[in-house]
Amino acid sequence: CIDIAKVPKETGCFTYDAGFTATASCKSAITYIDGDAGVLLYRGYPIEQLAEKSSFLEVAYLLMNGELPTTGEFEKFEHEVTHHTMMHEAFKSFLGGFRHDAHPMAMLTGMLGSLASFYHNDLDLEDPEQRRMTAIRLIAKVPTIAAACYRHSIGWPIRYPRNNLEYTTRFLHMLKEVPSEPLELSPVAAKAMDLLFILHADHEQNASTSTVRLVGSTGANPYVSVAAGVAALWGPAHGGANEAVLKMLAEIGRPENVKSAIDKAKDKESGFRLMGFGHRVYKNYDPRAALVRKMTHEVLGQLGVSDPLLDVAMKLEEAALQDEYFVQRKLYPNVDFYSGIIYKALGIPVEMFTVMFAIARTAGWVSHWLEQQEDPENKIGRPRQIYTGSANRDYVGIDKR
Ligand code: ACO
Repeated sequence: CIDIAKVPKETGCFTYDAGFTATASCKSAITYIDGDAGVLLYRGYPIEQLAEKSSFLEVAYLLMNGELPTTGEFEKFEHEVTHHTMMHEAFKSFLGGFRHDAHPMAMLTGMLGSLASFYHNDLDLEDPEQRRMTAIRLIAKVPTIAAACYRHSIGWPIRYPRNNLEYTTRFLHMLKEVPSEPLELSPVAAKAMDLLFILHADHEQNASTSTVRLVGSTGANPYVSVAAGVAALWGPAHGGANEAVLKMLAEIGRPENVKSAIDKAKDKESGFRLMGFGHRVYKNYDPRAALVRKMTHEVLGQLGVSDPLLDVAMKLEEAALQDEYFVQRKLYPNVDFYSGIIYKALGIPVEMFTVMFAIARTAGWVSHWLEQQEDPENKIGRPRQIYTGSANRDYVGIDKR
């Protein structure tokens, strides 16, 4: 492991690492992954323990602050998050400008960017308390904005946050077509929502978090840094995979069609990949996928939902794990292989799946942004390139070309 910054410039040492497969862009004390062993720790705590014993908001506090909160610290944090859930009324006009059929991720990107217009001039990034409040505001407001984006996309009036509900239930109440009474979530649905949010909360230097840090490294407004993270998350190779998985499973349709899907995924000419399979860092079973798979059975069983897509997913996993192509390349289901089946069972629309991921990942994005702002080694992210263009040549006038 070489710290390239310490290699004297005169050596001319220069690395080419397309896709940053072996390049650390920062030091971080937030999340640890051992991809070969299938281990994931948030601030040192195994993901399995947090999934079983913690809650999303407690995990958000842990990621941001480095330690689990005491009762008093948690109450203060929850109070702060709860009391920053409202959007400025002017937001409704921004929302109204989007096409009626805009994808909620497109709207979320734009709406979060526009937050910078409300919190910019007075924002002093040198002040740790203002930085902390920025993080709280984002964790608090992203669900409100996300739900409003969805409701706009289907032509429903937006619903204001009910601050007597807890975080995930409050979000679902704003999202769903429920009568005026608070939404009652069954215990298994509440547990599943919390689990998915915990598992999606952070994952070290993934594409979206690295994007937040890259934008943050320039000293840009933190709201646009997070908006950039949302944009990076949307791609099907990253967070957009959860929506793509469900569409893929629906296209496969029946367990009998799994073999041809596997064959197509192995054929490089087809341009088709098994969505929800493979990971840059995990070369073993993604520990999050194991937890989501178990929860999928619990949710469907307890809600009495029978979803044929689960049979297709299980058959697909079984076939892939026995296939030499997937075994050799160490391709296993990732966190998003089963998550969509749970969201579907909870009545979350498929176009909201990546938005759900964004809500949870906001906790990680703001934690990384905070860590970066405090890092004395933080410098502007500025990758180099290997130039492959023309050598020096003379300009030719348009009449002589
Ligand atoms: N289906 C079929 N083949 C695959 C898949 C897949 N899902 N994933 C990787 N491969 C193959 C590649 O074709 C390549 O084969 P080769 O060595 O013969 O050329 C090999 O496995 C290595 O793949 P890379 O693309 O080099 O791996 P990389 O680390 O760059 O990509 C990624 C990781 C993007 C996750 C990839 O596995 C993929 O596209 N998966 C499907 C999309 C997905 O599920 N994304 C979510 C990731 S998790 C997250 O962001 C929450």
